[in-house]
Amino acid sequence: MKNKLAWVSVTFVVFALASAVRADDAPPSTAAQIRKMDKGPDSIDVSNYPPEQQENYKVFASKCSQCHTLARAINSPYVSREEWSAYVAKMSQKKGSGLRGDSARVEKLRRDIISFLAYDSSVRKKDIAGPRTIDVSNYPPEQQANYLVFAAKCSKCHSLARPINAQYALPEEWTAYVDKMAKKKGSGLMGDSAEMKKTREQILSFLIYDSSVRKKALIERKTAAKSRYLGAFKPMLSRNASSLGARPRKAFSESISSREEPRSRISAR
Ligand code: HEC
Ligand code: HEC
Repeated sequence: MKNKLAWVSVTFVVFALASAVRADDAPPSTAAQIRKMDKGPDSIDVSNYPPEQQENYKVFASKCSQCHTLARAINSPYVSREEWSAYVAKMSQKKGSGLRGDSARVEKLRRDIISFLAYDSSVRKKDIAGPRTIDVSNYPPEQQANYLVFAAKCSKCHSLARPINAQYALPEEWTAYVDKMAKKKGSGLMGDSAEMKKTREQILSFLIYDSSVRKKALIERKTAAKSRYLGAFKPMLSRNASSLGARPRKAFSESISSREEPRSRISAR
């Protein structure tokens, strides 16, 4: 909600200050103002985009830089295909856009531009693509409480959209990722106090539960891929085990799971 308001006001300011001048041509003070409104880079490295989108980028770059630099579109908060369709329609209506009318040629130009912008947003704007909240009203009360901890702690540096729409789903993936995030400076998640441990556990518990609800299909795909992978290694593992005159399997798993003093493990080797 707060973010939406911020965007609305940013857009308002942009509209209020709108001038169809490029920074290069304008007097210094105006140029500075335009740069500030541009909010970031004015080109995109598309070398890793699919060839079709590299072509669409050329259309976008030539048509959408006639009045302002490309930075306007590149750093704007629009993300979804619907948002871009509406915005490109609006821009196209402007006099001199070369995108007005309903000839097949112009319609194709608009389609190409929208296609590019939607694709590019899905790559570069992960942070604001996809939902930023989860409806937890049907989650167990305990997980609703954990959600609040997650929402407070994991939105400090990026929006919650990051974790919510991430491709992580398995418990071990979340364990590793929460660990990684906690280690970042200023995360407010480091330390060994009981309270801090509980905070991390709550976040982890929520992410694992939430994935089991919202990411069932992804979990199934990942689990299947994992067992295929392990299956490919099994023959090799058992061959190694026998060639080493292996110890019984039990001893191996015990040495991993037991929290026993290291000495016994060292002497066992
Ligand atoms: C004929 C001139 C013209 C062309 C061509 C043009 N724009 Fe614009 N654009 C403007 C003006 C003027 C504004 C300021 C707001 C307004 O007047 O609607 C603007 C504002 C914007 C914004 C708003 C930025 C923000 O922060 O809210 C975006 C995004 C944008 N243009 C994208 C595009 C795209 C994408 C294209 C190509 C399809 C394009 N523009 C082509 C004139 C143009
Ligand atoms: C101190 C700042 C900070 C905090 C707090 C933080 N993150 Fe991050 N997060 C980052 C940065 C920076 C990145 C970009 C990738 C990187 O540097 O590892 C990132 C990236 C991610 C990504 C990767 C998204 C992708 O597209 O692959 C996920 C998922 C994520 N964070 C989840 C979380 C979770 C869950 C929490 C809460 C436990 C959290 N983050 C808290 C800084 C933070």
